[in-house]
Amino acid sequence: MYKYSNKNAEIYSKLGIEGTTYEPGFAKAKKMFGNLSGKKVLDFGSGSGRTAKLLLSFGAKEVIGVDHNQSMIDQANKQDTKNAKFFLIDNKIPFDKNTFDAAFCAHVMVEVNSFKKIEQIISEIYRKVISKLLISY
Ligand SMILES: C[S@@+](CC[C@H](N)C(=O)[O-])C[C@H]1O[C@@H](n2cnc3c(N)ncnc32)[C@H](O)[C@@H]1O
Repeated sequence: MYKYSNKNAEIYSKLGIEGTTYEPGFAKAKKMFGNLSGKKVLDFGSGSGRTAKLLLSFGAKEVIGVDHNQSMIDQANKQDTKNAKFFLIDNKIPFDKNTFDAAFCAHVMVEVNSFKKIEQIISEIYRKVISKLLISY
């Protein structure tokens, strides 16, 4: 399992979106989600907070970011994201079933080293989402 150091988490927090190879994926996600106005959204593997900010820009009322890396959570907490909160997790997502209207999971599975683990993560996310609207890549 890859673990970001403080330094690498800080570098990640400066990447941005515009002009990067992340841009087409995020544009596609915007089309798939549509308007997230008034929705509570889970951002699994939220990293330094970039995807939480993105989801807020799609209209989400509230974003809950979860990540297993403390350095990334620390960076996320430095972002100016009033309606996003970030939680350190260890496998389980500490919220009840059907808590969220939608979920996003971007650039995370590439860091997970078995299909079994990927299945476990996806079903854990899925259980928490009312509408079963989940975008993961
Ligand atoms: C490449 S970053 C993507 C961050 C963010 N989604 C973005 O696109 O800017 C991947 C993030 O997923 C987190 N991550 C990877 N596997 C995870 C797992 N099993 N549980 C929680 N977080 C995980 C990493 O710590 C890292 O912060």
